[in-house]
Amino acid sequence: MSEKPWDGRFSEKTDKLVEAFTSSIAIDKRLYTYDIEGSMAHCKMLADARIIPHEDAGTLIQGLDQIRQEIAQGAFRFDDSLEDIHMHIEDRLSQIVGPVGRQLHTARSRNDQVALDVRMYLRTEILGIINLLTELQKGIVAFAKDHMDVVLPGYTHLQRAQPVLFSHHLMAYYEMFSRDADRFRDCLKRVNVMPLGAAALAGTTYPIDRHQTAKLLDFPKVSANSIDSVSDRDFIIEFLSSASICMMHFSRISEELILWSSSEFGFAELSDAFSTGSSIMPQKKNPDVPELVRGKCGLVFGNLMALLTLMKSLPLAYNRDMQEDKKILFDTVDTLKACIQIYTAMIPGIKVNRETMARAASKGFLNATDMADYLVTKGMPFREAHGCTGKAVAYALNQKKELHELTLAELKTFSTLIKADIFSFLTIEQMVNRRTSFGGTATENVREAIREAEKGLENA
Ligand code: ARG
Repeated sequence: MSEKPWDGRFSEKTDKLVEAFTSSIAIDKRLYTYDIEGSMAHCKMLADARIIPHEDAGTLIQGLDQIRQEIAQGAFRFDDSLEDIHMHIEDRLSQIVGPVGRQLHTARSRNDQVALDVRMYLRTEILGIINLLTELQKGIVAFAKDHMDVVLPGYTHLQRAQPVLFSHHLMAYYEMFSRDADRFRDCLKRVNVMPLGAAALAGTTYPIDRHQTAKLLDFPKVSANSIDSVSDRDFIIEFLSSASICMMHFSRISEELILWSSSEFGFAELSDAFSTGSSIMPQKKNPDVPELVRGKCGLVFGNLMALLTLMKSLPLAYNRDMQEDKKILFDTVDTLKACIQIYTAMIPGIKVNRETMARAASKGFLNATDMADYLVTKGMPFREAHGCTGKAVAYALNQKKELHELTLAELKTFSTLIKADIFSFLTIEQMVNRRTSFGGTATENVREAIREAEKGLENA
């Protein structure tokens, strides 16, 4: 068993059960590159500030580099007795470079060290997530561009409401994912703050230069309060909350794809490569990917709740409870990335059933608003037009017909303002293309939205 760095004041060895219970190495070993990079910068700063000799700093940095290779090659031995990645690396460093290794931890504590590592890890992951979202958005825009001639019923309350372009519907998700990417960009500002040098909680008596460390590690900002530096996990909570919102968007598109894949809707079909079958029912083709994404959304919400609950009521500054943050964070990052990637791969293969969608859009009085609008263009106030159209709908329902299936003579019984030109008003094409208000579903608008999106993504 390795000696503990705190052995000095202890008379008993740590119980094995306690070692296993308190160890986080199985989880935090994935921080190793950041831990090593942070330690290298710390060494350099210590030497420049004449806290340790330059020669020793060189030896330490070389040793750290060797450890990085050992871990990358799988030649490094991990052991619960050394608790976490920070202690593993420090312990191995002393084995490699001898007593010089014991200088590495001058003027820092694991409390500020772990905060640094997690911030370095998360800023890298956030940039990766933003790139993945950009790829997904490109796929959404390309798919929307390819399906400009598809119309489906737009819904409110899951009741058919008004026809919309399928591309317009899809571009709604483009907007959601744009905001998600913005949220991650914004969150990055608060992640990208350098906490090292706060030491245990109060700062240090050594003449360190925290701004130099920040510069070496490419942090634009240094944390201002040592107590806050080691206590703050808001930056993770903020990320989890942005991830939850993003997953909520994935869950909504998943729900729609699941509904659309059902025989009841029949609007869309996922490719075979992205569906699975049933072990008992030979006819089944199941939308498991969207279902799992919808399910994983629940796990990510759970992670957000877990960390909020974990942090609530913790007194300042560091508390060991906070070690559990990494499991929550890593799981969220992995889940979110997997969902973005699988959606990016799945979308181009979705088969859209334009006839079924068009049929659905032409049934259920989706042109009732347009009939009222028609009457308004003929001089009737909207409220009156609404009532008049309502009567026409009731009549048509009785006749088991749609509004556009009534004869002109029948329509005229509801208002003498109605003329033969009403029929062109009631076609799906007209209903879509007259909605030219900014952000509306008219074909020209959607084309413009797609052009704007393409421009934005090119520069992303
Ligand atoms: N493994 C710990 C964590 O992840 C590192 C910090 C430990 N600090 C301490 N004082 N025990 O939170």
